[in-house]
Amino acid sequence: MEVRTAFFDDEVLEAVTSGVTQVVIVGAGYDGRALRFRRPGVRFFEVDHPATQGDKRRRVEGLGVALDHVTFASIDLMRERIGDVLAAAGHDPARRSLFLCEGLLLYLTPPVVESLLRDLRDRSARGSRLAVSTREDMPGASALAAARGAGRRLLLALIGEPRRSSFGIGEFGQLLERTGWTIVREVTRHGRPGDRRRRLLLAAEVH
Ligand SMILES: C[S@@+](CC[C@H](N)C(=O)[O-])C[C@H]1O[C@@H](n2cnc3c(N)ncnc32)[C@H](O)[C@@H]1O
Repeated sequence: MEVRTAFFDDEVLEAVTSGVTQVVIVGAGYDGRALRFRRPGVRFFEVDHPATQGDKRRRVEGLGVALDHVTFASIDLMRERIGDVLAAAGHDPARRSLFLCEGLLLYLTPPVVESLLRDLRDRSARGSRLAVSTREDMPGASALAAARGAGRRLLLALIGEPRRSSFGIGEFGQLLERTGWTIVREVTRHGRPGDRRRRLLLAAEVH
């Protein structure tokens, strides 16, 4: 199984077996964990851009599976604050939550990433947890790897999915610290030799 998928699956399994009753999947896309990890008493909040979420809902509803444990809330994170959207969706900040941000942050600008992390922290009862995937740019990238990265970014921008953020080495950890999160689990995935970024899987708790 893909390392990233296994990392997020572990986080959800650990949370729901340890009594967390709210799992908030931010930028959920076609994430199926609300169906795979459903448990009595656990509410899943799927928060996503309306365009993606509309399509996902049509597909999932077409499967005919029970979805009464899932709350769908749409948001454009570039324009709206997640605190308001979660409050309107019935998320309870007094109860422990697990927040997932998988494959999302690179589509948001650095100030939006910072607000998102702060807003999630503000809705976190003690014992809540955050799991994120992100990338950090390595110093001394080879010219070939840098050109490859620039080409990929241009392609994604052309198909309407511009990458809006990247972080320097160690910078993301500082951002978590500054927004109220302490890293408690870290998995680093290195790409091909000469790759100009390292991929991080991080779990953090409120401090
Ligand atoms: C690459 S997908 C990742 C989906 C899923 N979390 C996964 O790992 O398979 C990126 C997700 O971020 C969401 N997204 C991107 N920009 C967004 C924005 N401005 N507001 C809300 N969601 C956004 C997309 O709708 C999409 O669901």
